[in-house]
Amino acid sequence: MSGTLARLRSLCPTVSVGTLTADLMHLDAELELLERAGVGIVHVDVMDGCFCPQMTVGPAYVKGLRTPLLKDVHLMVEEPLDKLEPYAAAGADIISVHVEATVHIHRVLQTLGTLEHGERPGEAIVRGLAFNPGTPLEWLGPLLDEVDMVTILAIDPGWSGQIMASATLGRVARAKAMIAAAGKEILVCVDGGVTRGNIADIAAAGADLIVTGSAVFDGKAAEANARFVLAAARARRLYAL
Ligand code: DX5
Ligand code: ZN
Repeated sequence: MSGTLARLRSLCPTVSVGTLTADLMHLDAELELLERAGVGIVHVDVMDGCFCPQMTVGPAYVKGLRTPLLKDVHLMVEEPLDKLEPYAAAGADIISVHVEATVHIHRVLQTLGTLEHGERPGEAIVRGLAFNPGTPLEWLGPLLDEVDMVTILAIDPGWSGQIMASATLGRVARAKAMIAAAGKEILVCVDGGVTRGNIADIAAAGADLIVTGSAVFDGKAAEANARFVLAAARARRLYAL
């Protein structure tokens, strides 16, 4: 297991905080605020205007994030094969690709497995595979050997602040059952639509990583929000003791 994957696993269950609704002109301060709150992972939403309607950021943004937080890069881009390496070079710790983004997803995941971390030569990138709400989880079956983390999108990618799809918690349970039946140790992540009101249920369903954007960066009380969601995500571990 790579050092980065071991570090990620040691943090779970936990949150990965998205910056789409953060104050992008003062990102250093926003990242410091997350650190102060005890958050260990920052989530970067990369949208290409094709796979999903919006366009956001690219490798230069990932490189520009001056932070000790793990950089969790979510690629919502079509045909990611030739676009992976610049994100690894930019210092991404986790790179997630969408199962719907290419017919050659196996090749994409294999290629991701050959890339080295841009700042820690020889160290592998954590490989994530993301599923839109309408995509059958059965597509995971043939890819179980090539994945470190499965992300269940609770919303259709494109915007912050959408409502969580009703099937999400059942899909978390289904993914965990598939992983357990195969004897694998793959993390399960939920991304999108997370609120103060539903995060405890998502944690209880067994999510190892919970991506949350607007529930933290709401333009009001980001640090207190970050502490709240982190405690809620970790509560599963406390109950399990
Ligand atoms: C969806 C992105 C999510 C989302 C999170 O397009 O992948 O990471 O922006 O934002 P919230 O938590 O506000 O739904
Ligand atoms: Zn995301």
